[in-house]
Amino acid sequence: METLKKSIEECDSVKELERLRVEVFGKKGYFAKEFAKLKELSGDEKIAYAARLNEEKDKFSELVNAKKSFLETKEYEDILKQDAVDVSLYSNIVNVGALHPVIDTMDKIIEYFVSLNFSVEDGPLVEDDFHNFEALNLPKFHPARDMQDTFYFKDGALLRTHTSPVQVRTMLSQDPPIRMICPGAVFRPDLDLTHTPMFHQIEGLVVDKRGAVSFANLKSILEEFLRYMFGSVKVRFRPSFFPFTEPSAEVDIGCIFCHGAGCRVCKNTGWLEVLGCGTVDQNVFNAVGYKNSSGYAFGLGIERFAMLLHKIPDLRSLFEGDLRLLEQFK
Ligand code: DAH
Repeated sequence: METLKKSIEECDSVKELERLRVEVFGKKGYFAKEFAKLKELSGDEKIAYAARLNEEKDKFSELVNAKKSFLETKEYEDILKQDAVDVSLYSNIVNVGALHPVIDTMDKIIEYFVSLNFSVEDGPLVEDDFHNFEALNLPKFHPARDMQDTFYFKDGALLRTHTSPVQVRTMLSQDPPIRMICPGAVFRPDLDLTHTPMFHQIEGLVVDKRGAVSFANLKSILEEFLRYMFGSVKVRFRPSFFPFTEPSAEVDIGCIFCHGAGCRVCKNTGWLEVLGCGTVDQNVFNAVGYKNSSGYAFGLGIERFAMLLHKIPDLRSLFEGDLRLLEQFK
């Protein structure tokens, strides 16, 4: 038994220990041999020896089990040690990603309006005629529908052409006062230097009691916003037309490339058009059942802002996933 004990102690792997156990308990092993000797004994001697052997057997099992769990723990710890990653080790192989310029610009715009207590609303990309057109004072066959070429599904559903339907959804589900923006993807079947079939807009809407929200409020908030985005630029409001606002305006900033001298980007006008806006048309309030309300709304294309901020000449390049472009935004 002493030699057995010693062999167990000397084992330094679970595998080796298992071999020893099989050997000792096996047909030709120590216990098989010792138990065979019982045949030659008789009486008390036999009983005493059998008892001693059984005791030894238990003791041996106990020692093997204890050693086994010791070795298992040790082997596991060795593996952990070997596989450990030194997280403090510097490596310049890791290629860190960055936010896409469109998302980055979107975040910047959202941050501005959230700081003014605007909520951020959401709406479906697949819309119906009512929310995308009808409720926005764009009845069927209205010529202004041509301003927004549309992807239609067979059942008459459509891909939203602007984020304005979220105005409608928000007003249908909430009571005034409302201060919301809604960022998201929109779709129109166009593809050239300044158009892609999918792009992003941010819509803004503020509604309160009649007389509480004016065009002057709209003007001041957008002027501040555009200076936050582009620094100290000139801002001008140009009369325009949108079916969902009356009066409506398009907003230009002084060209940030030539500062008014005239260049290719501003087409020698000295101005860059950046958004559309106006005070909410009464027909829109009628469509959502709002009474005695006043409000203003605005909408802008996020890619347009990203292109101006980062001087990106071709809109399509924003969606090509070319790392040579994207890596410049780290
Ligand atoms: N929906 C317009 C478009 O896609 C943008 C827009 C203009 C939104 C004026 C507005 C607005 O809310 O008041 O061209």
